[in-house]
Amino acid sequence: MVAFADAIITWQKVHGRHDLPWQGTKNPFAIWVSEIMLQQTQVAAVIDYYAKFMQRFPTITALANSSQEEVLQCWSGLGYYSRARNLHNAAQKIVDEFSGTFPTQFDDILSLPGIGRTTAAAISTFAFDTPQPILDGNVKRVFSRHFNVTGWPGSPKIEQQLWEIVVRENPIADAITYTQGLMDLGATLCTRTKPKCNVCPVSVSCVALEKNLIRTLPTPKPHKVLPEKNTTMLVLMNGDEIMLEKRPPIGIWGGLWSLPEVNNDTNIIDINLQNASPLTKLTHTFTHFKLHIQPQLVHTNKNTQASEPRTIWLSLDDAIGAAIPTPVRKILQGLKAKKAA
Ligand code: ADE
Repeated sequence: MVAFADAIITWQKVHGRHDLPWQGTKNPFAIWVSEIMLQQTQVAAVIDYYAKFMQRFPTITALANSSQEEVLQCWSGLGYYSRARNLHNAAQKIVDEFSGTFPTQFDDILSLPGIGRTTAAAISTFAFDTPQPILDGNVKRVFSRHFNVTGWPGSPKIEQQLWEIVVRENPIADAITYTQGLMDLGATLCTRTKPKCNVCPVSVSCVALEKNLIRTLPTPKPHKVLPEKNTTMLVLMNGDEIMLEKRPPIGIWGGLWSLPEVNNDTNIIDINLQNASPLTKLTHTFTHFKLHIQPQLVHTNKNTQASEPRTIWLSLDDAIGAAIPTPVRKILQGLKAKKAA
């Protein structure tokens, strides 16, 4: 029982990652921001965003006093924008309910928007040295292999089984090194494909390795086909300026700027698509559906448009720098490249 944690700790000290930008701080705000960014995004993609975010919002108060627009702009391109909205709301909650000081109690941390059990545990461990077990995607893979847990780890039953094991194995001492070690092992050795079992510190006791089950564990999600949707996005262009429209606060890309969309029922913009020229189609995959986007370039005169309250006209460069979703940025960058050519 102790042997597993001990082997991870010894390995982490020598072979783990020690120079990530959010390591070597005890500042709970900095650790919180990093853990939220790392929830659904790989380390390599997070690093620049993390530096930019911490520079722009160096404290909880600075974040709480900013507008959602500013926060979303800083998050633009990282995806899963509810993370940014929750971070902003949680900062305001910390100011209102915890006098602006990040709470130290596990249940208080867990009560903040956007913070689940694993994120609360990582903050508790890294910032306050109060060990709590984590169970993120990487840890689910390590544990389902090592302890031979069959069944999709996303199902409540299997997740419960895994929680029992991570609770049991969590050490009392050196929890920071252990927790970081689990993350490092999952990211660098116990990878989904081609795991490096030959250099793994816990290979001697890994049941999946012994039983030749590495390739079948963790059990994949029973796959269901994602529904597909189609939309037409309008790139309304007047000289160098294009029109963006603010998305409603709730739902896909809530609060971001986007291109106006044409669907058959709600057609707020009176455009003659005869004058439109199609740009390259692209597909964006969300958690719950696939969106096929057909962008249409329309040269127009904005003075003839009824001015909608939630729209702005921006230069192409300013639009690319605004708080817009990734596929919209791709469309605009494609247009910019095309104009430059
Ligand atoms: N993934 C989630 N939290 C992490 C961390 N602190 N370091 C590296 N990867 C992580």
